[in-house]
Amino acid sequence: MAVTIQKLIAWKQQKRPIVSLTAWDYPIAQILDEGGKIDIILVGDSLAMVALGHQTTLPVTLDEMIHHAAAVRRGVKQALVVCDLPFLTYQESVSQAIHSAGRVLKETGCAAVKLEGGHPAIAETVAKLTAFGIPVMGHVGLTPQSVHRLGYKQQGKTFDEAQRILDEATALYSAGVFAIVLEHIPSDLAAIITAKIPIPTIGIGAGVNCDGQVLVTADILGLTEKHPPFAKSYVNLREIITRAVGDFATEVRSREFPK
Ligand code: KIV
Repeated sequence: MAVTIQKLIAWKQQKRPIVSLTAWDYPIAQILDEGGKIDIILVGDSLAMVALGHQTTLPVTLDEMIHHAAAVRRGVKQALVVCDLPFLTYQESVSQAIHSAGRVLKETGCAAVKLEGGHPAIAETVAKLTAFGIPVMGHVGLTPQSVHRLGYKQQGKTFDEAQRILDEATALYSAGVFAIVLEHIPSDLAAIITAKIPIPTIGIGAGVNCDGQVLVTADILGLTEKHPPFAKSYVNLREIITRAVGDFATEVRSREFPK
């Protein structure tokens, strides 16, 4: 049964944890979706770093996101697929955001877009997008598109910062987002936001009190060279792939393969 926005909101009420991972291509998407393991598959702009080799998420373009999101969407039957709007494809104006989000929905088949920040200008954009029927996921706390201003450090540690993040989450909820990613904030702040807003909070480095959790799939698979302190690797695919590639090279050189 396909995951819908209505189901996600019901799962919050039922206290059923929501599971989310990122994907950037067709085979990864198929594996994540098999057996309905993952509820939300996010084509995150982290693909700039984990799939395209950039130092930050900033360089990835809308065309590149659409290219990857369409491949992911072709691999998914059940999960809700959400695609990030990359840096400076929604901040300039409401009409730029509508154009970018519209392209994502039309050209990829994804069900929703995610954008970063909860500044009043962003909330205004979200209100317009949702009024036109485009589902939006919010993202507050550490917002990697602002890395040059924020760095990658935990956000919301002071009272003022925590209040600002709470206000942003509330404003995004009022503007119509169906869920909010809370990234790298203290667990007690995530608990306050989760209790205050009636839509799901999906945490990444935000403790156990969120309605769901998301991680970057390349991190859980051990594909990335280093991962953030809050991520966890469940397998070391770098090692496994290195061994397989080495075995193949050895067998070709020794004429053991092909038989
Ligand atoms: O780009 C991404 O992968 C994300 C997740 C880390 C939430 O935004």
